[in-house]
Amino acid sequence: MPYLLGIDIGTSGTKAVLVEESGRVVASSYVEYPLSQPRPGWAEQEPEQWWQAVVAAVKGLWAKSGLDGREVAGVGLSGQMHGAVVLDAGYRVLRPAILWCDQRTGAECTWMYEKIGAEKLYQWTGNPALPGFTAPKLVWLKKHEAEVYKQICHILLPKDYIRFRLTEVLATEVSDASGTLLLDVARRRWSEEMLAALDISGEWLPPVYESPEVTGCINPEAAAATGLMAGTPVVGGGGDQAAGAVGTGIVEEGILSAALGTSGVVFAMTNRPIIQPGSTLHAFCHAVPGKWHLMGVMLAAGGSLQWFRNQLGDEEMREAAATGTDPYELLTARAAAVGPGAEGLLFLPYLLGERTPYPDPAARGGFIGLTMRHNKGHLVRAVLEGVAFGLRDSLELLQQAGVKTAEIRLSGGGARSPLWRQILANVFKYPVTTVNSTDGPAFGAALLAGVGAGIYSSVEAACRATIKVTSRAIPVAAEAKTYERLYTVYKSLYPLLRTTMHDLTGLA
Ligand code: XUL
Repeated sequence: MPYLLGIDIGTSGTKAVLVEESGRVVASSYVEYPLSQPRPGWAEQEPEQWWQAVVAAVKGLWAKSGLDGREVAGVGLSGQMHGAVVLDAGYRVLRPAILWCDQRTGAECTWMYEKIGAEKLYQWTGNPALPGFTAPKLVWLKKHEAEVYKQICHILLPKDYIRFRLTEVLATEVSDASGTLLLDVARRRWSEEMLAALDISGEWLPPVYESPEVTGCINPEAAAATGLMAGTPVVGGGGDQAAGAVGTGIVEEGILSAALGTSGVVFAMTNRPIIQPGSTLHAFCHAVPGKWHLMGVMLAAGGSLQWFRNQLGDEEMREAAATGTDPYELLTARAAAVGPGAEGLLFLPYLLGERTPYPDPAARGGFIGLTMRHNKGHLVRAVLEGVAFGLRDSLELLQQAGVKTAEIRLSGGGARSPLWRQILANVFKYPVTTVNSTDGPAFGAALLAGVGAGIYSSVEAACRATIKVTSRAIPVAAEAKTYERLYTVYKSLYPLLRTTMHDLTGLA
């Protein structure tokens, strides 16, 4: 039986999954790596660490499944989007990759608006200039690391660097390329206007494929390192959001997704590019050929709860280690003991600055409304609810753009919590479902490999064959009403506190 291999190069680690044609995941393997934050707001990683993690994760699959590379019909790649990997003429990595959550390029985005103008930015790329995107990072390198910039001959996204190590081919695909701000999203090809405006050579950029297309094959060196067979096809794959959407079946109108990883993303498939000048939504190509998607991205969703666990969850982490449970379960159990609205306590989730709906690297988080009555359970509940309100902001923007909504599928680590699922259903006022596949982007990448290898006739057919709804949280009217009132207060806070947040960021 042929198996499909999906590899997702994430921010905290790399996940590899081996999938049967039916969609059953026969083995999954995860290898972590650190995030380097050399200065406040910066986020970098060494591409070599990704490669080592890919090698270890793929070998982990053989150890867990008893299978080997001969049984793999195709490989699909997915990864954290927007990261800038710069290579010299000899294909050597010139500096650590600057990642999606790096916020150093606020001034470069302002410069791009001044030089190019918002109207042309949207016309050429379909998108706003946001600090996380790739193009502002290149502008930053030109200004601040001229020595590095001078040597650049190739620019790759994180997963495409891994493709290069696996196949020796320089290539990307439309969904990830959309996040560079160098792609003409409507035409699914590099924007010559944008490259000219930024004085970036088109030769630095790899050819752009559709996501299920074969881009190259495993080379002998990579085969020796990973145990894959030389000659195994590697398809385009997708940026983690598009690949994750494929992995949860977001390939038709009406079914939206909310992905609760470090970041939080509300995602809708669209039949045409919905480009709205001035919007902070991202209008990108989907990993489904001929389709697009629209998404809002908040930077610290699961990341907010992770921050809480790390800073204030010592007790739960100790108890979890002693009893073999999950610290997040212990924390959310405390939150479940508190009513909706956490007795008037709100959490602002801008711990990494924000992107949608506020493109503001200097935004800051906070608890507002604390009283002596509030305990740890209230704080956790406020974090879960604050993240839900942040996602609702994106949902509202999508709906204003004309996106139809019938159901919202939840994925990512946060989807494991029944409490969070119910809070989201009540805040969104739509049914929140989960599906059988919990491996998101890696699973989606494997399905794309299956299309490229001819196992499925299309991405939609692959999703139909493998993805089923497994849980459904229905909004509870009384709770939804409480949240509606609280959401109005939540929405008023960023505009009120923006200057204060900026003053505080200036003091750091
Ligand atoms: C999407 C984005 C994040 C990263 C996280 O635009 O920036 O979701 O891809 O991995």
